[in-house]
Amino acid sequence: MCGIVAIVGSTPVAPLIVDALKRLEYRGYDSAGVATIESGHLARRRAEGKLINLEKRLRDEPLDGLIGIGHTRWATHGVPNETNAHPHFAKDVAIVHNGIIENFADLRDELVAEGYTFTSQTDTEVVAHLVSRELERGETPEKAAFNALKRLEGAFALAIMFRGDEDLIIGARSGPPLAVGHGHGEMYLGSDAIALSPFTNAITYLEDGDWAVVRRAGMQIFDMNGDPVERRRQKSIGTSFMVDKGNHRHFMEKEIHEQPEVISHTLSHYLDFAEGKAKRESLPFDFAKLDRIAISACGTAYLAGLVSKYWFERYARLPVDIDVASEFRYREMPMPKASAAFFVSQSGETADTLASLRYCRAEGIPIGAIVNVQESTIARESDCVFPTLAGPEIGVASTKAFTCQLSVLAALAVRAASERGTISAQEEKQLVRELSETPRYATQALKLEEQIDRVGRKLSQYKHVLYLGRGTNYPMAVEGALKLKEISYIHAEGYAAGELKHGPIALIDRDMPVIVIAPHDRVFDKTVSNMQEVAARGGKIILITDKEGSRRAGIETFETIVLPDMPEIIAPIVYALPVQMLAYHTAVFMGTDVDQPRNLAKSVTVE
Ligand code: F6R
Repeated sequence: MCGIVAIVGSTPVAPLIVDALKRLEYRGYDSAGVATIESGHLARRRAEGKLINLEKRLRDEPLDGLIGIGHTRWATHGVPNETNAHPHFAKDVAIVHNGIIENFADLRDELVAEGYTFTSQTDTEVVAHLVSRELERGETPEKAAFNALKRLEGAFALAIMFRGDEDLIIGARSGPPLAVGHGHGEMYLGSDAIALSPFTNAITYLEDGDWAVVRRAGMQIFDMNGDPVERRRQKSIGTSFMVDKGNHRHFMEKEIHEQPEVISHTLSHYLDFAEGKAKRESLPFDFAKLDRIAISACGTAYLAGLVSKYWFERYARLPVDIDVASEFRYREMPMPKASAAFFVSQSGETADTLASLRYCRAEGIPIGAIVNVQESTIARESDCVFPTLAGPEIGVASTKAFTCQLSVLAALAVRAASERGTISAQEEKQLVRELSETPRYATQALKLEEQIDRVGRKLSQYKHVLYLGRGTNYPMAVEGALKLKEISYIHAEGYAAGELKHGPIALIDRDMPVIVIAPHDRVFDKTVSNMQEVAARGGKIILITDKEGSRRAGIETFETIVLPDMPEIIAPIVYALPVQMLAYHTAVFMGTDVDQPRNLAKSVTVE
């Protein structure tokens, strides 16, 4: 997390850096800062909280300087106050950092013992002192940075500026992404290409272990041994316009409402509706020859993968191992030759997902990425990319990216089933026809917003909420709870409905609303039994079901939200919408910061 920008420019850079940081605020918004070199001195402005506070600060006390570095922070070491905000200085060195320096405590002890004093609680400040110490020992800035980098363990992207050389920024990458932007008489560094898109679309991505010496006239990249290396310059497809909220109060609301359109766009990329077939783009593996697939991801993206396990196993008879990436990466799972691995990620930068990918790469199996950002590291390191065509997702809580991930995975499950001969041509046609109906049902789901707003008001009175579901509705229950807790801060848990009696039932009382996601499907009657168990204990049931389900449930509910009857394969995609709307309206009613909830960031590039 954290966003980095650096410019070696030809006009005052502070306003340009702030503009670029706005595009990186999704990476963190605890504090922000900019440093430039003014009349030969390092100068900086920093502010706690969102970028808007830094902008205010800069309006009151502007910064000149044709070279500068900037940062938007997601706190890891040290509380999010101004003192811990980047850039950090040590004598002639200014530095911004994204990631975690794992051996910072040892390095700090070493530096303190030598008399260096620290002003912040951050891990970053040790890097500034390490570089500064090398300068004091007489090294050039390039050698000082290289020597300091060799001492660092952990994950980092860095931009370093030096008082005394107004034509030099050094960037380094070991883990989190860093891109060099090529301008005319100006050069840039940024955490992603979109941050740099107003300046240039000519981009070179640093690879892990790379460090770059960036000057106005150009740049030179070196590897971790200090040897010069060539990295491809490419044209970025990042757009330079800022996405706006349109007529919506929040990005999240806008993104929820965009779903019928983006789901349609995504499905038509993978399915041939006219022929009633899954499209057959060439792949680095053959579904018919696979014994299993491994899927790994984090958070909401993991839950999309979990839904797809039910699809791959049911329709394609293809076993799926799925794990959250933070566990997968250390589990040392054996990878038989006839496997493929899929990684699901909106940002394409999530550190744990990327590490899991690299584990599978080392195991030598083919890798597919289901990503929304097509230039991301995960996309670049995969053998094949399955784009989710959701468009930029700004709200920190994932909505449209999730339903587009589900759309891609559903289409892939149908393709796998067809290629493995586990469904007939007729069945394939039927499934494709059913999937083509998803946008229409999603539009109908949006019409429930008024009722859901009312339910949200009721829900906002409670401190704890339980979500239940079976089959593909089980991951939806977990997703519902995740959405609610992250934006409303109400404690919520999602459980497989059948697990209720194995523990969580002890929590049921009049103060515990239980949201049951239960379309009328093969397991509906079983879920109804679980609802009876809740009702018998005075729990308040909010049932999200379809017409047939509401007719048959035969239970008194606190509220029933009724969707149209729909084919089973599309239910998890469509049911995501009421689940998202419920979290959204509850949070709006409670007055939380829906698009940028506390403690979170949109791109999680640390472990
Ligand atoms: C929750 C949410 C997160 C992300 C997770 C993975 O609403 O958005 O749980 O799904 O951090 O992020 P990506 O998909 O970028 O790998």
